[in-house]
Amino acid sequence: METTLIILKPDAVQRGLMGRIITRFEDKGLQIVGCKLMQISQDLAAQHYKDHASKPFYPGLVRFMTSSPVLVMAVRGIGAVAICRGMMGATFGSKAAAGTIRGDFGVSNSFNLIHGSDGPEAATREIGLFFKAGEVLDFNRAGECWIYDSSSGKAE
Ligand code: RTP
Ligand code: MG
Repeated sequence: METTLIILKPDAVQRGLMGRIITRFEDKGLQIVGCKLMQISQDLAAQHYKDHASKPFYPGLVRFMTSSPVLVMAVRGIGAVAICRGMMGATFGSKAAAGTIRGDFGVSNSFNLIHGSDGPEAATREIGLFFKAGEVLDFNRAGECWIYDSSSGKAE
Protein backbone atom coordinates (compact mmCIF):
# COMPACT_ATOMS: atom_id res chain seq x y z
CA MET A 1 0.00 0.00 0.00
CA GLU A 2 1.16 3.49 -0.85
CA THR A 3 -0.08 6.75 0.67
CA THR A 4 0.13 9.99 -1.30
CA LEU A 5 -0.48 13.63 -0.44
CA ILE A 6 -3.30 15.37 -2.29
CA ILE A 7 -4.01 19.07 -1.84
CA LEU A 8 -7.24 20.61 -3.11
CA LYS A 9 -5.86 24.05 -3.87
CA PRO A 10 -7.55 27.39 -2.99
CA ASP A 11 -9.46 27.54 -6.30
CA ALA A 12 -11.00 24.09 -5.71
CA VAL A 13 -12.12 25.04 -2.19
CA GLN A 14 -13.44 28.48 -3.24
CA ARG A 15 -15.31 27.04 -6.23
CA GLY A 16 -17.08 24.42 -4.10
CA LEU A 17 -15.46 21.49 -5.89
CA MET A 18 -14.16 19.61 -2.85
CA GLY A 19 -17.00 17.10 -2.69
CA ARG A 20 -16.92 16.25 -6.39
CA ILE A 21 -13.14 15.77 -6.37
CA ILE A 22 -13.13 13.66 -3.18
CA THR A 23 -15.90 11.53 -4.71
CA ARG A 24 -13.64 10.70 -7.66
CA PHE A 25 -10.98 9.26 -5.34
CA GLU A 26 -13.57 7.32 -3.32
CA ASP A 27 -15.28 6.04 -6.47
CA LYS A 28 -11.91 4.78 -7.73
CA GLY A 29 -11.54 2.63 -4.59
CA LEU A 30 -8.81 4.70 -2.96
CA GLN A 31 -9.01 5.21 0.79
CA ILE A 32 -8.94 8.67 2.42
CA VAL A 33 -6.81 8.11 5.53
CA GLY A 34 -6.18 11.76 6.45
CA CYS A 35 -8.11 14.95 5.69
CA LYS A 36 -8.11 18.53 6.97
CA LEU A 37 -8.92 22.07 5.91
CA MET A 38 -6.01 24.39 6.57
CA GLN A 39 -4.39 27.68 5.64
CA ILE A 40 -0.88 27.10 4.27
CA SER A 41 1.77 29.42 5.78
CA GLN A 42 4.53 31.05 3.72
CA ASP A 43 7.04 28.77 5.41
CA LEU A 44 5.09 25.58 4.68
CA ALA A 45 4.53 26.60 1.04
CA ALA A 46 8.27 27.26 0.71
CA GLN A 47 9.15 23.84 2.15
CA HIS A 48 6.56 22.07 0.02
CA TYR A 49 7.63 23.71 -3.25
CA LYS A 50 11.37 24.02 -2.43
CA ASP A 51 12.37 22.28 -5.68
CA HIS A 52 10.66 25.08 -7.62
CA ALA A 53 12.26 27.96 -5.65
CA SER A 54 14.34 29.18 -8.60
CA LYS A 55 11.52 28.97 -11.19
CA PRO A 56 9.92 32.16 -12.56
CA PHE A 57 6.44 30.99 -11.52
CA TYR A 58 7.49 30.32 -7.89
CA PRO A 59 6.44 33.68 -6.30
CA GLY A 60 3.00 33.46 -7.91
CA LEU A 61 2.67 29.81 -6.92
CA VAL A 62 3.40 30.56 -3.24
CA ARG A 63 1.04 33.57 -3.32
CA PHE A 64 -1.73 31.37 -4.76
CA MET A 65 -1.21 28.46 -2.36
CA THR A 66 -1.26 30.76 0.69
CA SER A 67 -4.15 32.97 -0.52
CA SER A 68 -7.08 30.98 0.92
CA PRO A 69 -7.67 27.62 2.69
CA VAL A 70 -6.82 24.29 1.09
CA LEU A 71 -8.00 20.76 1.83
CA VAL A 72 -5.12 18.34 2.39
CA MET A 73 -5.67 14.60 2.15
CA ALA A 74 -3.64 11.44 2.62
CA VAL A 75 -4.91 9.00 -0.01
CA ARG A 76 -4.04 5.30 0.15
CA GLY A 77 -4.07 2.40 -2.27
CA ILE A 78 -1.78 0.07 -4.20
CA GLY A 79 0.14 2.38 -6.55
CA ALA A 80 -1.77 5.39 -5.18
CA VAL A 81 0.88 7.94 -6.22
CA ALA A 82 0.71 7.12 -9.94
CA ILE A 83 -3.04 6.48 -9.91
CA CYS A 84 -3.70 9.91 -8.38
CA ARG A 85 -1.34 11.66 -10.81
CA GLY A 86 -3.24 10.05 -13.67
CA MET A 87 -6.58 11.12 -12.23
CA MET A 88 -5.31 14.72 -11.82
CA GLY A 89 -4.20 15.10 -15.45
CA ALA A 90 -1.54 17.33 -16.98
CA THR A 91 -0.31 20.34 -14.99
CA PHE A 92 -2.07 22.99 -17.09
CA GLY A 93 -5.85 23.01 -17.16
CA SER A 94 -5.76 24.11 -20.79
CA LYS A 95 -3.85 20.92 -21.74
CA ALA A 96 -5.26 18.36 -19.31
CA ALA A 97 -7.31 15.61 -20.95
CA ALA A 98 -11.06 15.34 -20.51
CA GLY A 99 -11.86 12.78 -17.84
CA THR A 100 -9.13 14.05 -15.54
CA ILE A 101 -9.76 16.40 -12.61
CA ARG A 102 -7.79 19.28 -14.13
CA GLY A 103 -9.24 18.53 -17.55
CA ASP A 104 -12.85 18.48 -16.40
CA PHE A 105 -12.95 21.30 -13.83
CA GLY A 106 -10.57 24.03 -14.97
CA VAL A 107 -9.01 25.94 -17.87
CA SER A 108 -6.33 27.96 -16.07
CA ASN A 109 -2.64 27.09 -16.17
CA SER A 110 -1.89 28.37 -12.68
CA PHE A 111 -5.21 27.82 -10.88
CA ASN A 112 -5.00 24.09 -11.49
CA LEU A 113 -7.11 22.84 -8.59
CA ILE A 114 -5.06 20.01 -7.17
CA HIS A 115 -1.60 18.88 -6.08
CA GLY A 116 -0.47 15.26 -5.92
CA SER A 117 2.93 13.93 -4.86
CA ASP A 118 5.04 13.02 -7.90
CA GLY A 119 6.73 9.92 -6.45
CA PRO A 120 6.80 7.69 -3.35
CA GLU A 121 9.70 9.58 -1.69
CA ALA A 122 7.98 12.92 -2.31
CA ALA A 123 4.77 11.46 -0.86
CA THR A 124 6.50 10.43 2.38
CA ARG A 125 8.19 13.82 2.70
CA GLU A 126 5.02 15.78 1.93
CA ILE A 127 2.78 13.77 4.28
CA GLY A 128 5.35 14.51 7.00
CA LEU A 129 5.10 18.23 6.21
CA PHE A 130 1.31 18.46 6.28
CA PHE A 131 0.21 15.86 8.86
CA LYS A 132 1.26 15.42 12.49
CA ALA A 133 1.67 11.99 14.08
CA GLY A 134 -1.77 10.45 14.61
CA GLU A 135 -3.51 12.48 11.89
CA VAL A 136 -3.12 9.76 9.25
CA LEU A 137 -5.20 6.79 10.38
CA ASP A 138 -4.91 3.06 9.69
CA PHE A 139 -8.38 1.54 9.57
CA ASN A 140 -10.12 -1.32 7.78
CA ARG A 141 -12.86 -0.55 5.28
CA ALA A 142 -15.89 -2.80 5.47
CA GLY A 143 -15.93 -3.27 1.68
CA GLU A 144 -12.18 -3.80 1.21
CA CYS A 145 -12.73 -7.39 0.06
CA TRP A 146 -14.59 -6.03 -3.00
CA ILE A 147 -12.02 -3.34 -3.81
CA TYR A 148 -9.00 -5.66 -4.19
CA ASP A 149 -8.93 -9.33 -5.17
CA SER A 150 -7.10 -11.07 -2.31
CA SER A 151 -7.97 -14.63 -3.37
CA SER A 152 -4.33 -15.42 -4.19
CA GLY A 153 -3.21 -14.28 -0.74
CA LYS A 154 -1.94 -11.00 -2.16
CA ALA A 155 -4.18 -8.00 -2.79
CA GLU A 156 -4.31 -7.12 -6.48
P1 RTP B 1 1.73 20.01 -8.36
O1 RTP B 1 3.15 19.89 -7.88
O2 RTP B 1 1.04 21.23 -7.83
O3 RTP B 1 0.98 18.73 -8.10
O4 RTP B 1 1.73 20.16 -9.95
P2 RTP B 1 2.57 19.38 -11.02
O5 RTP B 1 3.44 18.34 -10.36
O6 RTP B 1 1.65 18.94 -12.08
O7 RTP B 1 3.47 20.54 -11.61
P3 RTP B 1 4.89 21.09 -11.11
O8 RTP B 1 5.80 21.11 -12.28
O9 RTP B 1 5.35 20.39 -9.87
O10 RTP B 1 4.53 22.60 -10.76
C1 RTP B 1 3.99 22.95 -9.51
C2 RTP B 1 2.90 23.97 -9.71
O11 RTP B 1 3.47 25.18 -10.18
C3 RTP B 1 2.60 25.80 -11.11
N1 RTP B 1 3.30 25.92 -12.38
N2 RTP B 1 3.25 26.98 -13.13
N3 RTP B 1 3.59 28.85 -15.24
C4 RTP B 1 4.25 27.71 -15.28
O12 RTP B 1 5.02 27.42 -16.17
C5 RTP B 1 4.02 26.75 -14.20
N4 RTP B 1 4.55 25.55 -14.12
C6 RTP B 1 4.09 25.04 -12.95
C7 RTP B 1 1.36 24.95 -11.20
O13 RTP B 1 0.41 25.44 -10.25
C8 RTP B 1 1.87 23.59 -10.76
O14 RTP B 1 0.82 22.81 -10.24
MG1 MG C 1 4.70 18.77 -8.71
